Amino acid sequence: MLLLVSTFLSTAIEALRVIGGDMTVVLGGTTILPCKLIDAEDTVIQISWQKEPQTDNFLTILSATGPLFLNGHDKRFQFIGNFADNNGSLQLSNIKLTDEATYTCIFTLFPSGNVQTEIHLNLLVPPVTSLKDNRPTLGTEEVSLATCMAAASKPPAKVQWLTGTLGEKVRPTNNVTQHANGTTTTVSTLFGVPTREINHHLVKCVVTSAAMSKEESLPFTIQIYFSPIEVTISKRSEDSFECVTEANPKAAFTWSRCSCLNEPDKPNKATFSSYQGCLSEQSMPQSTVRVEGATLQFLSMTSDLNGLYQCEASNLYGRKHSYMYVHVTSGACPACWTLFGLLLFMIAFGVAALWYSYKTGKCLRTEEDTRGERSKVPTSGSPEEEEEEAAADL
Ligand SMILES: *[C@@H]1O[C@H](CO)[C@@H](O)[C@H](O)[C@H]1NC(C)=O
Repeated sequence: MLLLVSTFLSTAIEALRVIGGDMTVVLGGTTILPCKLIDAEDTVIQISWQKEPQTDNFLTILSATGPLFLNGHDKRFQFIGNFADNNGSLQLSNIKLTDEATYTCIFTLFPSGNVQTEIHLNLLVPPVTSLKDNRPTLGTEEVSLATCMAAASKPPAKVQWLTGTLGEKVRPTNNVTQHANGTTTTVSTLFGVPTREINHHLVKCVVTSAAMSKEESLPFTIQIYFSPIEVTISKRSEDSFECVTEANPKAAFTWSRCSCLNEPDKPNKATFSSYQGCLSEQSMPQSTVRVEGATLQFLSMTSDLNGLYQCEASNLYGRKHSYMYVHVTSGACPACWTLFGLLLFMIAFGVAALWYSYKTGKCLRTEEDTRGERSKVPTSGSPEEEEEEAAADL
């Protein structure tokens, strides 16, 4: 009994005599592995360091020789203690994941033997954050809108979406992956139905981690991509016209003059939607027409201008057309020239722009022309809307 108590006491006293302490450090940083012997009356012969799970010394310090590396010199370890002061502290810099371990600092005393302490080194790895636009295109099915990632962090990072007023229109799904090196990747994907309603909404991905001094906020504007929706030609002044559409990304505009419209592959299936813009483009009368982006301007009014003009709006996702029929009634008299909503008239009465084509005599006539089917007017890939728009404008 007495023996047990004395053993216990001696252990307790020894534990108190070497001061260490657990350390937490961020990957790549520098830390001190503290180790100091206090109240020693015996002579210190050697200070040695071990790293679990190894049980042999990787470093010994003797009063005469100073620090000595036993398994090769790792320059990242530096003895910053002082043998005479019974201070065995080390500094470890450029910390790697593999440095995370329990270190043992041992003082060898004469005559009492070894006293030691353990220092646990905890590693923090800040996540590498990123946000990816999944480029959703307009639709009615739920798709992933954006993905927020906090990669290879330790401990695992928390990834959240702040979606503000979007509420239940979007929902996040989280996925966590553990890596062999002890780090964790957290991915949060935001799902929602890609409607125009959620387009341009600002959301935020917030990443929090014990390895970062403060949370990281990644703002993201939801982008729903779509091809030009409706192309309209608006009159901007007496002699200039602007092509307008809604598209994401912004559409590029091309004005051209058609000698006839593109006929479908099978003429007897001459439906409206089968026409895809001008079949052949006439050269624009350079001296009398100026095109600047979406705007078409007539510089002087002559019958040279007469014809069918096409505005094509296009982006990465598609293209749409709208047409304008120009008819200058006489000479160069600005007051006399008119732009007819002739095309619209034709649409209303079921006579296609093909009519125009025949009139100019530049298009081949097909026998189907006499059939009722061609009454559908070749003005665009998505007819109805555009016809209406054109009607309004002209
Ligand atoms: C840990 O592993 C992951 C996955 O292999 C890797 O991306 C990451 O860079 C590693 N981290 C460190 C600090 O080596």
